[in-house]
Amino acid sequence: MNKLIVSLLLTVGISGIAHAAGEPVKPGDATAGQAKAAVCGACHGPDGNSMAPNFPKLAGQGERYLTKQLHDIKSGKRTVLEMTGLLTNLSDQDLADIAAYFSSQKGSVGAADEKLVARGQDLFRGGKVDQGMPACTGCHSPNGAGNAAAGFPHLGGQHAQYVTKQLTDFREGNRTNDGDTMVMRSIAAKLSNKDIEAVSSYIQGLH
Ligand code: HEC
Ligand code: HEC
Repeated sequence: MNKLIVSLLLTVGISGIAHAAGEPVKPGDATAGQAKAAVCGACHGPDGNSMAPNFPKLAGQGERYLTKQLHDIKSGKRTVLEMTGLLTNLSDQDLADIAAYFSSQKGSVGAADEKLVARGQDLFRGGKVDQGMPACTGCHSPNGAGNAAAGFPHLGGQHAQYVTKQLTDFREGNRTNDGDTMVMRSIAAKLSNKDIEAVSSYIQGLH
């Protein structure tokens, strides 16, 4: 009896591993992803519209961008202490399904601080010509929708506090997963604290 259980466990275990390694990842399935994302809702909101300003909204975010971030967070390429261990037991298929689920949800929009709108809009739409810094619109689009196919993230409506932390992290080299071109690190290097405050507030109200 014991022997039978042991051999059953071995068979299941080994075929489980073979399955995980051999199975190609199918396009994300939003319905399957919803169940797998239950644990994420505590911080990111059940539909991906988080209430807390330090937890990013995931609703309506591009699927390709979300999938990349999940792989980067899982591998440690991007450090998110709050998510330590949460992705360890999720397969590539699980990550694809979860990304499809949050991407299929509708993102909510916040409001910009009136006093910061003008400066934020100038930076977002015009960049800093004298310093060779491109406008954000070129990649993140004029309404902040991003470019889902290219993996440029949707920014419109994102919490200003979260955006401020990302831009500061890119500038200080605490977030380094923007690829070999260092696209966001080189842009953030041209932003002062006041610039970051203004453009982040503008983004929060952008839609
Ligand atoms: C305890 C809170 C918490 C839980 C639970 C949590 N997260 Fe997060 N997550 C965060 C925080 C905080 C950040 C942002 C960290 C930073 O400032 O860079 C984040 C960032 C992310 C990002 C990057 C978003 C972006 O715009 O770049 C993704 C994607 C993500 N989480 C997905 C998930 C998924 C999927 C789960 C469930 C398996 C999950 N998170 C569970 C706190 C949490
Ligand atoms: C040349 C293209 C390009 C331009 C111009 C650009 N970005 Fe980005 N941005 C990206 C890419 C690509 C990423 C995703 C990096 C990654 O994979 O982690 C990104 C990520 C971000 C993020 C992190 C989003 C999140 O959910 O964590 C923020 C915030 C951001 N950009 C703000 C800006 C602002 C503000 C500007 C203008 C001052 C700007 N970007 C200009 C390409 C660009």
